[in-house]
Amino acid sequence: MRTRMLSATDLATAAKAIDEAAEILRRGGLVAFPTETVYGLGADARDGTALRSIYAAKGRPSDNPLIVHAADAPRAFSLAESVATQAHMLADAFWPGPLSLVLPKSAEVPDEVSGGLQSVAVRVPDHPVALALLERFDGPLAAPSANLSGRPSPTSAKHVWHDLAGRIDAILDGGETGVGLESTVVDLTTPIPCVLRLGGLPLESLERLLGDVEVATKLRETDTGQPVRSPGLKYRHYAPNAPLYVLIGDRRTVVHALSQLYRDAKDKGRRAGFLLTQEAANLLNIDPSDRLCYVLGPLGNPDAVARRLYAGLRYLDAGAPEVIVAEGIDGSGLGRAVADRLQRAAEGSLLQADEVLARGTTLRALLEGIPSG
Ligand code: TXA
Ligand code: MG
Repeated sequence: MRTRMLSATDLATAAKAIDEAAEILRRGGLVAFPTETVYGLGADARDGTALRSIYAAKGRPSDNPLIVHAADAPRAFSLAESVATQAHMLADAFWPGPLSLVLPKSAEVPDEVSGGLQSVAVRVPDHPVALALLERFDGPLAAPSANLSGRPSPTSAKHVWHDLAGRIDAILDGGETGVGLESTVVDLTTPIPCVLRLGGLPLESLERLLGDVEVATKLRETDTGQPVRSPGLKYRHYAPNAPLYVLIGDRRTVVHALSQLYRDAKDKGRRAGFLLTQEAANLLNIDPSDRLCYVLGPLGNPDAVARRLYAGLRYLDAGAPEVIVAEGIDGSGLGRAVADRLQRAAEGSLLQADEVLARGTTLRALLEGIPSG
């Protein structure tokens, strides 16, 4: 299949591209489009055949349900069997925006959307191209992130092209996305709202409106013996090709451990990628032209760090490193979602910075899995 790149970076001239995209979707095709969070891979949410082709194009397990995008709250809620008061409150406060609400699904929602669950996740995206496309298409669009399953979500049309060219009909290019992390997913099918995925809407904003909310962390079947509430939590995610290690601990120790591993890479001539904040890059005196270092942004600006996180993972991967070492990020606001994504991308390969220092851990030790110390 030949994938078409449709330019919608200039809103004044984007109408034709959006018309063409809507037409492809009406015929049951797949179109990637920008949202404020990440690019989505859109298909008609009422068309089972089109929905199955989303799973095929991404290589996505069929039990991982899709988020349905609508042009406004009434149209989003028409996909639900019932809408709790809290859903109306959240929609009033945060839509259009980076928040997906899980509600009991209406009978019209195809099984391909819900992955066999009795619920449906809906959201109204805050992006002019996404909203124009939804209006023009005049129907709900199911859209997972437009990456190959397991890879970092795409924050530019180029990322989508890299993963899905030849597998989908078209990409609407709306430039780089603003938030850079996927939407926050909140389950409202239970009496206490539960955050199934941290994301573009900070937890603090939800808590201000709802009071305390539950945050799902260990909802894997193996962890709890309970049915999975968010199937997405089961799978490897956001991962670069190279093994990724995340340094955690207090700030000073993390920066020292980064420095130790960076010097080791330079001394031994190893191809190691480094993902770090501006502050750490300054302290390590990193050469700005170093192809294997990617500076996320200032530590004090988690929004900026979030915006560049996936682009950074993809950028480093393109340099074909043997290993990537990331500075652990945490804190409030989007910092918490960034920490979550890094940890998932590293699949548990967290390095305690104080141990790295105490044991003098080298990159070779990491790569060969040598139990150091
Ligand atoms: O920002 C976003 O949410 C992006 C853009 C394109 O809108 N979309 C996105 O979709 O990230 P995806 O498919 O990559 O992630 C959807 C997440 C998965 O973790 C999935 O398990 C969860 O939402 N999800 C979807 N429907 C659900 C449901 N009915 N119940 C529980 N979790 C659900
Ligand atoms: Mg995804």
